[in-house]
Amino acid sequence: MPYPFQITSLDQYHQDHKKSVDDPEGFWGNIADNFLWKQKWQKVLNWNFKEPKIEWFRGGKLNITENCIDRHLAEMGEKPAIIWEPNNPEERTRIVTYNRLHKRVCQFAQVLRNNGVKKGDRVCIYMGMIPELAYAVLGCARVGAIHSVIFGGFSAQSIADRLEDAQAEYIVTCDGAYRGGKDIPLKSVIDDALVGNKKVKRVIVYTRTRTPVSMIKGRDVWWEDEMEHAEAQVEKQGVVSFPAEEMDAEDPLFILYTSGSTGKPKGVVHSSAGYMVWTTYTFVNVFQYKPGEIHFCTADIGWITGHSYIVYGPLSAGATSLMFEGIPTWPDAGRFWDIVAKHKVNILYTAPTAIRSLMGFGDEPLKDKDLSSLRILGTVGEPINEEAWHWYDEKIGHKNCPIVDTWWQTETGGTLISNLAGVTPAIPSWASLPMPGIQPVLVDENGHEVTEKDEHGHLKGNLCIKAPWPGILRTTYGDHERCRKNYFATYENLYFTGDGALKDDKGNYRITGRVDDVLNVSGHRIGTAEVENAINMHAGVVESAVVGYHHDIKGQGIYAYVIFQGRHINDEMTRMDILQTVSRIIGPIAKPDKIQFVTGLPKTRSGKIMRRILRKIAEGELDSLGDVSTLLDPAVVDEIKNNRL
Ligand code: WTA
Repeated sequence: MPYPFQITSLDQYHQDHKKSVDDPEGFWGNIADNFLWKQKWQKVLNWNFKEPKIEWFRGGKLNITENCIDRHLAEMGEKPAIIWEPNNPEERTRIVTYNRLHKRVCQFAQVLRNNGVKKGDRVCIYMGMIPELAYAVLGCARVGAIHSVIFGGFSAQSIADRLEDAQAEYIVTCDGAYRGGKDIPLKSVIDDALVGNKKVKRVIVYTRTRTPVSMIKGRDVWWEDEMEHAEAQVEKQGVVSFPAEEMDAEDPLFILYTSGSTGKPKGVVHSSAGYMVWTTYTFVNVFQYKPGEIHFCTADIGWITGHSYIVYGPLSAGATSLMFEGIPTWPDAGRFWDIVAKHKVNILYTAPTAIRSLMGFGDEPLKDKDLSSLRILGTVGEPINEEAWHWYDEKIGHKNCPIVDTWWQTETGGTLISNLAGVTPAIPSWASLPMPGIQPVLVDENGHEVTEKDEHGHLKGNLCIKAPWPGILRTTYGDHERCRKNYFATYENLYFTGDGALKDDKGNYRITGRVDDVLNVSGHRIGTAEVENAINMHAGVVESAVVGYHHDIKGQGIYAYVIFQGRHINDEMTRMDILQTVSRIIGPIAKPDKIQFVTGLPKTRSGKIMRRILRKIAEGELDSLGDVSTLLDPAVVDEIKNNRL
């Protein structure tokens, strides 16, 4: 598959960016012509950020799975779509060709239909990183159901909340999942999440670990039985088919829950056509993908990165996507490098936290590892520090592989700011230039564009985007007002990202991190309010305040200040109890790294917690707390300082 929209020079980048700003409809209309439509659109773009109302390719009809699968079959049917590397290196690798993917997705779409799933129904997916997860996601898209994938690190309570919010009636899961040395009992977590749930009609269970599971008659069915049954329905005389549901360009494709500054995660909704165009366009350009190459994105499909750059972007581009079940440090810290050598990976896309953690193991795990197939490296999820960037460049890329630092968010569908590998310059720890279609602007607290440079000649402000791109979120599920308030109301007529950034005089951006109460722990997004709510649910906790602090490996760690007045044996025991509560309420990924018991929290006279002070104490910046005399109880600050962990 050739990519007529691939940018091949710096000049072309500038021209395309200009075109995309001067004539967005002409620009994106041309790009959308490279996809398979059941019916062409009438209007490329229709929008206002006030409501917000954003429509791309209105009137167009399509099914994303025909773009990700069917259109590649004639020429690439026997080429690998997915290469799957199991958690256990001794286990057999699986290679899923486009033909095979087509068959499995058609089969699973039939399974969904047999179980009553219709267009627009919500299907919650809670599985490990196995090819069946991709079949489940694509099977949903095939029948027009809206999938909502939940990361395996979330607890039963978190799943229950998401099921409720999405009003989901169907679940696809596994008996268990392998991750490093652990078996995670997914079905049993689902069973806990379903206690008291009256909405869910069907749970489809794939066998991966063969841990004993309860199977409730009339509700739970085995994936294998269902697939076997569906096989005869979709395959007649050797021809496999399952008609792809005709979707409107703006029909929702999926919901993905993500954390914000308020307590409850929100269901970000992506559209069918715009998301497809954006993920494909950014995949092909950022990674400069060449047909035949092997792309290894190490994210989990439970996060947006996996949706966009393991499944939809690569497959729509006819690429080979490597999917890995395990973790980078198991059975040892050389696992990524073994995988690169074994499968001759060309593009490696991972998170700074993984790079920093592997860096900590020194050169030993790299010994005798053949990394010569690598052509391009990428990072995502959090700012990358220069030390990690250089290690990645030298030890992994042997100074031969351009590194792309891709900045984006669940809400943006795909990359908004990044260099294009080998085409536009890479600058360590700078995401650099906006993609065509993206018009960033840095504003001050009042929403005015910043114009004054700092001592390094950089502009500094809150990062906003002026106009929609095809992959922007359309709403938050079931609550459009929340979407407006969260992203479009802080500054008039701008999409507000929640990130702060610097801009240099060449137009490059450096993301400095969140400016709201959202933490980024090992590249996982977690809201401080969410963690506080969970801690506060623990018996004996009176109040808590959670802030982030610099963590060498995770990027950010979670620091909790807790007022506790319950039954107390010793601090350590109470700490462990609180961690257990947080694990139950949100999941192990939200466990605080540090819990400091305090007798009070610094508050203004109006009762607002002064997080700025708590953040400084957590960071150890004890001399720059600023004026604390206006606090309700200034003495509490000294106590907190003195007992700092
Ligand atoms: C942060 C992940 C710096 C940022 C795709 C953003 C980054 C949040 C980068 C979104 C990067 C992501 N450099 N920071 N290259 N990429 N971020 O929704 O704070 O899980 O707002 O999406 O991660 O996290 P999310």
